[in-house]
Amino acid sequence: MKPAEKTVLAEHRRYLVDDLSGAVLDLGAGTGAIFPYFREAVADGRNITLFAIEPDPHMRRKAVERAHELGLDIEIESASAESLPFTDDSFDVVIASLVFCTIPDFDTALSEVARVLKPGGEFRFLEHVRGEGAVGVAHDVLAPAWHTVAGGCHLNRETHEIFRDDERFELVDYTRLENIPQVVPTVRGTLKRRREASLLSQLV
Ligand SMILES: C[S@@+](CC[C@H](N)C(=O)[O-])C[C@H]1O[C@@H](n2cnc3c(N)ncnc32)[C@H](O)[C@@H]1O
Repeated sequence: MKPAEKTVLAEHRRYLVDDLSGAVLDLGAGTGAIFPYFREAVADGRNITLFAIEPDPHMRRKAVERAHELGLDIEIESASAESLPFTDDSFDVVIASLVFCTIPDFDTALSEVARVLKPGGEFRFLEHVRGEGAVGVAHDVLAPAWHTVAGGCHLNRETHEIFRDDERFELVDYTRLENIPQVVPTVRGTLKRRREASLLSQLV
């Protein structure tokens, strides 16, 4: 991912951290690829308290090392997105970058995002999704093998459709990215947790 980080991902990671404030959670931090951008936000004087979760111990160790190298104050928990170790209405912003493709129980994880976000809080995402037309058909064919070789990643998840249709959130912003090859269609966007989200999730 290193070349892609500099050439195509940097502007989208900046989108995820733009104008951050308050309590912020990075879901599935991996090796901490977004941490340098958190560092920029802190250096900018933003008033933020940073948390991350990462279930894989190897990745988590690397993330801890990277935070240390950057002098970044961030609490990194061993947890999965399906069971977040935080109370309801804890966060102003939850960030998911290239993670919902891998999460095994998508619906539970999205419910957890709705639960831990404060009403009016933002869920910002950067995710690769199933392609359209022939690319989508190719993704369907390749998906089972890809899942095996790529650490459980679902190549053909329609993450964007699920995010956009979820009534617990208001769609604030959504873009299909042009600077990323269309063999790996990628989207970014922001959802805002509706004020009545807790009630809705109790009803479904
Ligand atoms: C492709 S990496 C992305 C890492 C990082 N967010 C980034 O932008 O580079 C996907 C990450 O999701 C993590 N992951 C897998 N299952 C997860 C789950 N159920 N909950 C949270 N994170 C998970 C993996 O361990 C891995 O670190």
